Amino acid sequence: MTKITVKANGPYLVEGADIVDETGASFPVEAGKPVALCRCGASARKPFCDGTHVKIGFKSAETAAAFKAK
Ligand code: FES
Repeated sequence: MTKITVKANGPYLVEGADIVDETGASFPVEAGKPVALCRCGASARKPFCDGTHVKIGFKSAETAAAFKAK
């Protein structure tokens, strides 16, 4: 089962999925290990998170509870 965790003020943590580009080619990831995908847009290693979100003070507001309230 694929699980995507939306981290507070950070990346999307993806478990149990292949990460592919628009051609279908896979990015190299370690089997069985979660990967962090950048959602702040500032990573130098896109599509992966490199921790830059901390340096730039990225703030997210998305939570499941907030989504249900809309
Ligand atoms: S979310 Fe971590 S560098 Fe963008």
